[in-house]
Amino acid sequence: MAWFNGSSALLLVTLVLFTVTICDAFKTRHVRVTNNLEGGQTLKLHCKSEDDDLGLQTLATNASFEFHFKPSFITITRFDCSFEWPGASHWFQIYNHEREKVYCSKCYWSVTTAAPCRYDWDEQKYSKCFKWS
Ligand SMILES: *[C@@H]1O[C@H](CO)[C@@H](O)[C@H](O)[C@H]1NC(C)=O
Repeated sequence: MAWFNGSSALLLVTLVLFTVTICDAFKTRHVRVTNNLEGGQTLKLHCKSEDDDLGLQTLATNASFEFHFKPSFITITRFDCSFEWPGASHWFQIYNHEREKVYCSKCYWSVTTAAPCRYDWDEQKYSKCFKWS
């Protein structure tokens, strides 16, 4: 085991970590959007990427819409969604590969009147709230 000195061990660890990181970046993503609007309002959700139109979804209170995809090697994967309910119309980027790659493979969102909030798997709640675009 003469080859297994400190620096080759370090190189091996670095290589493994690098490979895991790269593989992680391109794992299938599961995105779920749940209607948690106040007052039992119906949410109309329409999500699109450059390649896919996921269609208009009508979500009753507490209902969810879920989709999955593999992040693309070639183009940057993004999904933009429109969110509509009586008296409101918003846009939000529900998935942005640059923002998301280290944060979620299960990207779960709760849509409230105030904000879209992402589930934090460490805190076990929808604590990462963003501003509507
Ligand atoms: C929606 O979920 C909340 C929280 O779990 C619950 O309090 C409420 O009764 C649910 N509403 C409906 C219509 O299912």
